Amino acid sequence: MKNIDSYTHLRGESVYLDDIPVIRGTLYAAVFDSPIAHGELLSVDCSAAKDLPGVVRIITAADIPGENQIGGIIADEELLASTHVHFCGMPIALVLADTEEAARHAVKKIKADIRPLPVITDPREAQAKGELIIPPRTFILGDTTSAWAQCTHIIEGRADTNGQEHLYIETQGAYAVPQESGVIRIHSSTQGPTAVQRTAARVLNLSMHKIEVDTTRLGGGFGGKEDQATTWGVLCALGAHLTNRPVKYALHRMEDMRMTGKRHPYSSDFRIGLDKDLKILAYEATFYQNAGAAADLSPAVMERTLFHCTNAYFIPNVKATAYSCRTHLPPNTAFRGFGGPQGMFVIEAAIAKAAGQLGIPATAIQEKNLIRTGDEFPYGQIADSEAPACWQQADEQYHLSALQKEADAFNAANPLHKKGLAVMPICFGISFTKTLMNQARSLVHVYTDGSVGISTGAVEMGQGVNTKMLQVAAAVFSIRPDRIRINTTNTYRIANTSPTAASAAADLNGKATESACRQILERLKASAAADLGTEPSAITIADELVCINGVPSSLTWPQLVMNTYVKRISLSELAHYTPPGLHYNPATEKGHPFAYHVYGTAIVTVTVDCLRGIYDVDSVKVVHDFGRSMNELIDRGQCEGGIVQGIGWMTMEEIVYDKEGRLRSNALSTYKVPDIYSVPAEISIRPLQTDKDNLAIFRSKAVGEPPLMYGIGAYFALRNAVKAFNPGAVLPYDAPLTPEKVLMGLYQIH
Ligand code: MTE
Ligand code: HPA
Ligand code: MOS
Repeated sequence: MKNIDSYTHLRGESVYLDDIPVIRGTLYAAVFDSPIAHGELLSVDCSAAKDLPGVVRIITAADIPGENQIGGIIADEELLASTHVHFCGMPIALVLADTEEAARHAVKKIKADIRPLPVITDPREAQAKGELIIPPRTFILGDTTSAWAQCTHIIEGRADTNGQEHLYIETQGAYAVPQESGVIRIHSSTQGPTAVQRTAARVLNLSMHKIEVDTTRLGGGFGGKEDQATTWGVLCALGAHLTNRPVKYALHRMEDMRMTGKRHPYSSDFRIGLDKDLKILAYEATFYQNAGAAADLSPAVMERTLFHCTNAYFIPNVKATAYSCRTHLPPNTAFRGFGGPQGMFVIEAAIAKAAGQLGIPATAIQEKNLIRTGDEFPYGQIADSEAPACWQQADEQYHLSALQKEADAFNAANPLHKKGLAVMPICFGISFTKTLMNQARSLVHVYTDGSVGISTGAVEMGQGVNTKMLQVAAAVFSIRPDRIRINTTNTYRIANTSPTAASAAADLNGKATESACRQILERLKASAAADLGTEPSAITIADELVCINGVPSSLTWPQLVMNTYVKRISLSELAHYTPPGLHYNPATEKGHPFAYHVYGTAIVTVTVDCLRGIYDVDSVKVVHDFGRSMNELIDRGQCEGGIVQGIGWMTMEEIVYDKEGRLRSNALSTYKVPDIYSVPAEISIRPLQTDKDNLAIFRSKAVGEPPLMYGIGAYFALRNAVKAFNPGAVLPYDAPLTPEKVLMGLYQIH
């Protein structure tokens, strides 16, 4: 089934925040944000701004009626700076004006007197100074200390990954509209409507039931709106509360890039030990996460780095420690993969470095150490592994050794172009790592004409979750898809939602929807049985017809619905779902945090132009563990999008902050994201056919984040191509591997 949004997307009729009709009297907001990264805020001078034409009000920290606090995990982040600024782009004042232009013009007239304080941008420096967001955490399996003695080869090194700008097409924004009795409705481009609601209530000193958050869809979130949409929702709510007028703020691209956090850069040290048969016996890693100036989601992201630090491999002795380091960058946040990719890059770097020193292909080490069913992850969960199956199928279907031979032959024949190949296995745990977040509710109404309305906590952001919810209801009821409507995500209909994140939205909300539909179906069946003079167990519904023992009767779905209504039987249900079996003990760092894992293997081939350092990703050939995909089109789209986003992170997207903590890559002219020309000429995606009982909705495994990590293969393929040209090149494991770095590597002399 096609994505149900495709029709309105194509016609330009889909509603995003900026498409909501604006009510007369609406004020437009703009933020005055800190021009320096760290300092004492001595005074804010709004005198030249406040009397400008169109300016209605300027709000600072002192005007906040409740708590000046937006921290989700840790209360360490002010909405508007009061005494100190902690990053360039930190909001200081909110201007409300009759037009957007007037608001932005007034912002330029505001002056802040800030006494500069020392700026830290490097996570290792922050760690050395004790600037940590939370105490470090360590995951341990076996005993690395005694394992080193058994290792034939021990290799050490360092690996760095840079951040990544989310670059959702729709920038951050919100529109807050006062209702009667002090209620405020916030239209928010957020992945987490409840976070916006909870935080607005806290800042405005209102009960949560006075804040309604409504989200139709996002023009992309990618994690950037899991926590960081809250700022804008709450600022608009604050403006609306203080002026009793609607307040809208849709950020301009450069405001968004400057003021919001990104994927966490990491700097890491590794040590890997192998026996003579290339079995990895021991692995130690230390991760320095660049959290930015406040916690935001960094502790959870850091935790996922540890969960995924051994990627798809089984290593019997592991010790991994992570530090969440406070710097003076905008607080970094969720980004597709949520710390997992950063952890996986380091183990892949360790394997690549070991292979390089042993003079063997990395694949020899990778394949040998894939995790198998029954093996234990460092956090105690036992694997039900598809890693070897994915690898084998990729090898068989794409002929790995033939591909390598082809590349070698090409390299022998071409002095100025070199091909590189790398294999990237992945393993990604599905569930929020915070166990309590794994819950969802779905409200299903069947209307008397047989049409169906569904509300869940899931937010549609392009990933197709609404289509999947609709498919669930259509399958359970066995009715036409066009009878079903997925409503906006709204905190008045569904309360206490987890954000749409962790790739888990379809599972959690889908299972809740399935449960609600089944409960209604049972009532409908009982009603039909009474009308048709049979047992409920004999009743099924197939293609909108009631069947008795599989034989269609003349009773249609709409008639059945109406008959049931007439009997005063409820046609609505609110169902709750939480996956069984999840537990985790942070004291021991052991448990069963994930409902299941998603596996896959990608073979990535690149060609480097050795005169210019530019390159193409020729092909990404994947075998991906979809379980039993409930929507192949959508799932393929998620794979393709994730792969290209991952390649972007690994090869071209280069975030640059200067030493003063100012974002230099602050526009699309200075920050390069993949365009259509950077998309690999071939992306093949073959499913690993499995049909195992699992906790995925309709056995269709979560697909939102895992494919991004195939992109890591592009980094290692590029390295291999550079080495084919310049075998002596010693390249640091430092992503992204931009054309500039490739060029340096090609001509590096040692
Ligand atoms: N796909 C699109 N088109 N747009 C997005 O913003 N976000 C990704 C992924 N795929 C995203 C996307 C991220 S970060 C997550 S966690 C999942 O979708 C969330 O949706 P799901 O739980 O329904 O998979
Ligand atoms: N993944 C994504 N988002 C999250 C998670 C997670 O594990 N935990 C909290 N927010
Ligand atoms: Mo996705 S990073 O969990 O929003």
